[in-house]
Amino acid sequence: MQYKNGLTVAAVLAASVSAANSTSSVPSSCSIKSDATASSQADLDSYSSCSTIVGDLILTGDLASAALSGVEEIEGSLTIKNATQLTSFSADSLKKISESLTLQELTVLNTASFGSLEEVDTINFTTLPAVSSIVTKLTSAKQIIIADTALESIAGFEELDEIDVFNVNNNKGLATIDSKLKHVKTALEITYNGQSADVSFDELEWANNITLRDVSSASFAKLANVNASLGFINNSLPSIDLSTLEEIGGSLSVVSNDDLTKLDFSNLTSVGGGFVIANNTKLTDIDTFSELTTIGGALVVTGKFGSLDFPKLKSVKGGADIESTASNFSCDDLNALQKKGGIQGDSFVCKDGATSTSVKLTATGTTDDDDATSTSASDGGSSTSNSTSKSKAAAGANFNAPGSSIMGAVAAVAFALL
Ligand SMILES: *[C@@H]1O[C@H](CO)[C@@H](O)[C@H](O)[C@H]1NC(C)=O
Ligand SMILES: *[C@@H]1O[C@H](CO)[C@@H](O)[C@H](O)[C@H]1NC(C)=O
Ligand SMILES: *[C@@H]1O[C@H](CO)[C@@H](O)[C@H](O)[C@H]1NC(C)=O
Ligand SMILES: *[C@@H]1O[C@H](CO)[C@@H](O)[C@H](O)[C@H]1NC(C)=O
Ligand SMILES: *[C@@H]1O[C@H](CO)[C@@H](O)[C@H](O)[C@H]1NC(C)=O
Ligand SMILES: *[C@@H]1O[C@H](CO)[C@@H](O)[C@H](O)[C@H]1NC(C)=O
Ligand SMILES: *[C@@H]1O[C@H](CO)[C@@H](O)[C@H](O)[C@H]1NC(C)=O
Ligand SMILES: *[C@@H]1O[C@H](CO)[C@@H](O)[C@H](O)[C@H]1NC(C)=O
Ligand SMILES: *[C@@H]1O[C@H](CO)[C@@H](O)[C@H](O)[C@H]1NC(C)=O
Repeated sequence: MQYKNGLTVAAVLAASVSAANSTSSVPSSCSIKSDATASSQADLDSYSSCSTIVGDLILTGDLASAALSGVEEIEGSLTIKNATQLTSFSADSLKKISESLTLQELTVLNTASFGSLEEVDTINFTTLPAVSSIVTKLTSAKQIIIADTALESIAGFEELDEIDVFNVNNNKGLATIDSKLKHVKTALEITYNGQSADVSFDELEWANNITLRDVSSASFAKLANVNASLGFINNSLPSIDLSTLEEIGGSLSVVSNDDLTKLDFSNLTSVGGGFVIANNTKLTDIDTFSELTTIGGALVVTGKFGSLDFPKLKSVKGGADIESTASNFSCDDLNALQKKGGIQGDSFVCKDGATSTSVKLTATGTTDDDDATSTSASDGGSSTSNSTSKSKAAAGANFNAPGSSIMGAVAAVAFALL
């Protein structure tokens, strides 16, 4: 398939990958010397009798168009870079590249065709400002990196079920990503692509970790498991619907999403790391965590929420920092959880618009009346405090300590994702 003004990486489905010729059977004329660079069509034509070439083929220079004909397999990599006049490239007999396919700094490239390509280790497309679409029929790839292109949509890779890394960043014109991936073994990252990317991964069942930044909507119709971390940072999306998600092995971060009003995590039972929902300015109700029973790290929720509901939450292994500026938010449920020993970390802070509670627990993580406990309430400027600790100074010192350790926990979670 050829798309006008588009990059086409198509593969013929029916074709079967020929068994790799062993290196020893490849004529020496089909081996690429390590420092060799092709810079003309004649250089490429010198490989036309080779069904397999061994080595890393680099194409660069002032060509306007180029084709690699006859070659079915590269035991090595293919790199086309800094060919600033190149408008089209084709390698339509190529079925397999054992290492990477890199297209980099090709400022006027608008068509690249890999009509038979089924198998590649890494696709790395970087700085392709004239390319506006990608379609592929690849059946096997470990990594796909697409950065700084003019792509408006990424709908290809339809035959790919599984990948290690899928990373799409800094494609400022990107409007849609529609993926059929089922598993992402290392990381799925969609970041900095402008503010209007609609992404859907409706076949995705699990991913090791997922980071979304600057997307305007996200759809994960079948996502059941995130093995490591899940982050939604600085997006313009109005809602996050992850009602099929059952477990997050690492941390959950939902931070600085200014248009976010609705969450659905109604099937989530555990978060292995920290739980952070912060700075989502329009998020007023956080009441969809109806099945959540355990949090393996710190619990941090800040914002203007009136409700924060964890009906089944039994155990938070870290501390907690809950701060709402809404006056109708009540700390009662969290205070009760903390009193029962449900918050096992060394700090607990809960603040609503009117009151604030902070507790420094003992090193063993149990509540103990001998330890400092401070509860302060302030209203209209007047404030009273009640301390069961031996001295106010001790309570004050303990208020600061958990505050800073909580900020440490927040910073650690944020750094892991940003
Ligand atoms: C890119 O190619 C031009 C000539 O076409 C050359 O002058 C320049 O040094 C090359 N840049 C890099 C980074 O190789
Ligand atoms: C992809 O290409 C860019 C530009 O050459 C490079 O900086 C980056 O490290 C490459 N990524 C991978 C995973 O190969
Ligand atoms: C992620 O979790 C799923 C479901 O439990 C599991 O099948 C998969 O092997 C895990 N993947 C990794 C990379 O741990
Ligand atoms: C993805 O998860 C692994 C742990 O399984 C972690 O080492 C890695 O840093 C994570 N990557 C990102 C981008 O979050
Ligand atoms: C969020 O994105 C905007 C641009 O869209 C940027 O100016 C701002 O610094 C980002 N904020 C964070 C917390 O990343
Ligand atoms: C919630 O999880 C259960 C299994 O634990 C599953 O049967 C149910 O369909 C899930 N609900 C949604 C909305 O995915
Ligand atoms: C929330 O925003 C405030 C002020 O911009 C910032 O100091 C804080 O670090 C943010 N919290 C998170 C978890 O990003
Ligand atoms: C808290 O107040 C806000 C607006 O004042 C309202 O929208 C919200 O429903 C209230 N929440 C609860 C739990 O009462
Ligand atoms: C202070 O706290 C103690 C124990 O929690 C309670 O018995 C007492 O009534 C409280 N005093 C005030 C003034 O709130």
